[in-house]
Amino acid sequence: MAEPRIENVRKILVVGAGAMGSQIGMVCALAGYDVAVQDVDEDALKKAQEQLKDRMSRNVEKGRIEQEKVDAAFDRMTFTPDLQGAVADADYVIEAAVERLDVKREIFAELDEAAPEHAILATNSSTIVSSRIADATKRPDRVCNMHFFNPALVMKCVEVVRNPETSDATIETAVELTRRIGKSPVVLEKEVSGFVANRILGALMDEAVDLYEAGVSSFEDIDTACKTALGHPMGPFELMDFTGIDVNYHVRMDRYEDTGDESMKPKKSVVEKYEKGELGRKTGKGWYEYDEQGRRKGGS
Ligand code: 3HC
Repeated sequence: MAEPRIENVRKILVVGAGAMGSQIGMVCALAGYDVAVQDVDEDALKKAQEQLKDRMSRNVEKGRIEQEKVDAAFDRMTFTPDLQGAVADADYVIEAAVERLDVKREIFAELDEAAPEHAILATNSSTIVSSRIADATKRPDRVCNMHFFNPALVMKCVEVVRNPETSDATIETAVELTRRIGKSPVVLEKEVSGFVANRILGALMDEAVDLYEAGVSSFEDIDTACKTALGHPMGPFELMDFTGIDVNYHVRMDRYEDTGDESMKPKKSVVEKYEKGELGRKTGKGWYEYDEQGRRKGGS
């Protein structure tokens, strides 16, 4: 069996060209890796390239990075619908497809068939622990979670989560790759629903929504408290709008289904927003209202 080693990682395949997948791909390419971003949806691939070009142009305009570095990174990237072709010479795979266990298991089985023996298959899932996927492959020791945060181009944390079969070489390689792409690894030695950061965030959001539902403060004032008393860059309601109220809803439903614990269910006002389709920035309305460009109406 070929043990994974960071020295062997040259090409990274990212599966899924949504906001997370495309930005993860960009981060890896900016760090000097060859990157393939794969998605079955050709429109998603096109949209991902356009959005990354826009994002990176803004970063150049603002003097955050030189144009040559951006051009070199795009030269190292390919966007393709062909999973088998893209994985054949991949040394490392980060899957960021839809949050559905059946879909992820199918993708991992297909990746496992065609990937080089030494390749690690990591999932960016925030809700599905890798032990539920690893047995769809013949390399469970080379499977782990590698959980990025939104927006992946900006947020530094990556949670690297060991499943009971993950090898030390896999964890070491995932941690070192995280460092080499300029991120800060946080290692979880065992699987736990929600991992570390989202558990803490979930507790904060629960308390925020409880205070709002109890009529103690408006959601705007609760956001202000978190920003001006605690130094958070966004308040919990702003953050729900940013990541999507549907994400909050599904994460809580999954945790409820996993544990059977009623207190894990999404809060009443979150369910109401979800049912009305007021999902945050992407639908123009969540807790706050947004214009076509996703900017807050009448807010900062
Ligand atoms: N994609 C990529 N980059 C983005 C971005 C996005 N959607 N939104 C903002 N940025 C970057 C851009 O470089 C932007 O500069 P620009 O607008 O000039 O291009 C820069 O961040 C600053 O943005 P803003 O001036 O609009 O606002 P802020 O200074 O508040 O920064 C933020 C934006 C970095 C998103 C900051 O508000 C923040 O850190 N918010 C908290 C985010 C957070 O908590 N993320 C974790 C979510 S939980 C999660 O991801 C778990 C998962 O499992 C769902």
